[in-house]
Amino acid sequence: MVDDRDIDKAVAILKRGGLVAFPTETVYGLGADAGNPAALKKLYAAKGRPTGHPVIVHLADVSQVSRWARDVPPAAAKLAAKFWPGPLTLIMRRAPDVSDAVTGGQDTVGLRIPSHPIAHALLTKFGGGVAAPSANRFGRVSATTAQHVKQEFGASVELVLDGGPSDVGIESTIVDVTGKRPVLLRPGHISAREIEQTVGVPLATPHTDSPRAPGTLAAHYAPKTPLLVTEADLLLELAASLTRQGKRVAVLARSTLQPLLPGLTWISAPHDAPAYAHHVYAHLRALDTAGCDAILVEKLPQQPEWAAVNDRLGRAAAGSRPPSAS
Ligand code: TXA
Ligand code: MG
Repeated sequence: MVDDRDIDKAVAILKRGGLVAFPTETVYGLGADAGNPAALKKLYAAKGRPTGHPVIVHLADVSQVSRWARDVPPAAAKLAAKFWPGPLTLIMRRAPDVSDAVTGGQDTVGLRIPSHPIAHALLTKFGGGVAAPSANRFGRVSATTAQHVKQEFGASVELVLDGGPSDVGIESTIVDVTGKRPVLLRPGHISAREIEQTVGVPLATPHTDSPRAPGTLAAHYAPKTPLLVTEADLLLELAASLTRQGKRVAVLARSTLQPLLPGLTWISAPHDAPAYAHHVYAHLRALDTAGCDAILVEKLPQQPEWAAVNDRLGRAAAGSRPPSAS
């Protein structure tokens, strides 16, 4: 596991403009000094991420917020008091000297104070803001273990701090607090309802002047294998038909039982939403590397507690051409 010497090494790498991957409670982050444009350039290159995509700045504690945001609206203060440190990112007006490489050229900055003890130790010792997108190559499935990070980046990342599997398993809830009413830009473990209860007003839906959150567009979080989300009965029919054609099929099931079919890779996912989220990316990675022609995911309930995983699965499927059962 990680000790003080590893943290010191990570801090030294960040200070000289290098990249360090580290665990957070949501997913692993690929970190760079948010105050160093050359380090940010390296970060974008390693991820294969187009410029113009803003990155979240991670901080050790709220006293640092004013260095990055020029204004902390009351809704932000309430949400920060309730959920930080934790899996919440707040979009605020940027302070004047925050670079365009962080904000994607927008007038806003995304800030998060993670609760993971290793992230916290790293941020505290580093002292500044650490820009950290999820530690996956652009558009791909986020990493929830140190092994996933190494599979994604190989030697281009100098150090991966291994904190075991991420607890939440999906990325932070993102709330834009720059307007009259807060806007949910990305659902996550902290639900829309908890946000509304904390700020005391209903969330507005994203509108044309909401800050762009390009990572929340369709076709993200995607495995390489075509992925389809479908109802249990259709899933079984499709699996039977595809395997009859000699195709190999990977299934992420939830309530259905595994049928006896050749060429099937089958994972039964947990029943409750937090456990499903905790495992979902590892499951998608496992199914993606099984050498199958398609991944079929059993459709999940539509209740609010499933909103965040439904969002991620929808995006994972968005770029795929559905397998044909003909
Ligand atoms: O849980 C998480 O948030 C993880 C961990 C590592 O903290 N990080 C993460 O970063 O998911 P990333 O870069 O994969 O996703 C950040 C999202 C993107 O959709 C990005 O567009 C949005 O946050 N974002 C960042 N700064 C923004 C800003 N100023 N305005 C609007 N959206 C922003
Ligand atoms: Mg990401």
